[in-house]
Amino acid sequence: MTEPKFAPSILSADFARLADAVVAVERAGADWIHVDVMDGHFVPNLTFGPKMVADLRKATRLPLDVHLMIERPEDWVDRYADAGATYLTIHVEAAGDVPRTLAAIRARGVRPGLTLNPETPVDAVLPHLGSIDLALVMSVHPGFGGQKFIEGALGKVKSIREALDARRLAAELEVDGGIKPENAARVVAAGATVLVAGSAIFEDPDGPVAALRKFKQAVRG
Ligand code: DX5
Ligand code: ZN
Repeated sequence: MTEPKFAPSILSADFARLADAVVAVERAGADWIHVDVMDGHFVPNLTFGPKMVADLRKATRLPLDVHLMIERPEDWVDRYADAGATYLTIHVEAAGDVPRTLAAIRARGVRPGLTLNPETPVDAVLPHLGSIDLALVMSVHPGFGGQKFIEGALGKVKSIREALDARRLAAELEVDGGIKPENAARVVAAGATVLVAGSAIFEDPDGPVAALRKFKQAVRG
């Protein structure tokens, strides 16, 4: 099994000490930092905006994987590009004109990502696979960390994996929500290349370094 990338979600870290959290997981071998932007409208929770991304950009050299859970993401592309996002992922349910928004992200030199909610059929993202660098399958209803993994997400991961391979597309396939060392190997076997984990890393009683080690052991089998 090819080893996946790990993208700790700072949603579950201490917001008053985010730079420390990012440095800790970078030292522990994280590949990306997953940054959850919520606007209190698209999802019933509120986090932070472009200034936090710009400040995190100064705290780590890892790619910043920015997951926009906001309405009208098209209005925010320039601000997150200016802030230093590496990947900028929009929800297919939120963007008014998906191809145009993805093109605007790429035109700013940022890697475009597209994601879908658990209730959204996979057909909503398949037509856009040729325009993205990252497909993100949500395995919880977005808004909060610490929720249970929705098993139905695995079928979507497999469908997107088949579609990417059939078209020889190299986009990353990321899964977000309820990922633990216990289910990580199944998610990778379904075709994921990037695993997001928030509570399983930042709320592990043994700390984030040990948590990442457990994940890496789990996917090695
Ligand atoms: C949920 C966020 C996730 C969240 C995952 O809306 O998109 O990135 O942090 O948290 P866990 O890993 O605890 O399910
Ligand atoms: Zn996320």
